Amino acid sequence: MKRAIELHINGDTHDVLVSPNNTLLEVLRDKLGLMGTKRGCDLGACGACTVLVNGEAYLSCVMLAVDAVGKEILTIEGLAEGAELHPLQKAFVETGGLQCGFCTPGMILTAKAILDEDEHPSEQAIKAKMAGNLCRCTGYKKIVEAVMSVTNPGTDR
Ligand code: FES
Ligand code: FES
Repeated sequence: MKRAIELHINGDTHDVLVSPNNTLLEVLRDKLGLMGTKRGCDLGACGACTVLVNGEAYLSCVMLAVDAVGKEILTIEGLAEGAELHPLQKAFVETGGLQCGFCTPGMILTAKAILDEDEHPSEQAIKAKMAGNLCRCTGYKKIVEAVMSVTNPGTDR
């Protein structure tokens, strides 16, 4: 039986009708049109669907939408301030930390969660904490460089 729930996403409130087994990813993409959150494996194995829930990185393909009620959800659409990209978004563009871009929203939101917890993580810590985000294009070097450029702006990499 469907149920009406209220979700707080990117500072807005959305009323949606969901089934108990709808994942947060299904609701974001299929009901609310927030297509920036990507459906990769749909199994909790690739990180493409990462969103922030109360500031922590979650895989939205394995989280039920009903479990997100009462929490603050941030998707990639909510990261920029108007036309001003978030520093991580700028860094990925400037560093070339993306090719097809499919993994990029999840990468950037995972990186945001890392930096919100620790402004200056080591390269090793970044690699370890981003290990759940898979990229089929870049080989990861530029992605790590992009995150490092935000943690230590102006330093040689
Ligand atoms: S789509 Fe969620 S982890 Fe792959
Ligand atoms: S840039 Fe294509 S999957 Fe990462």
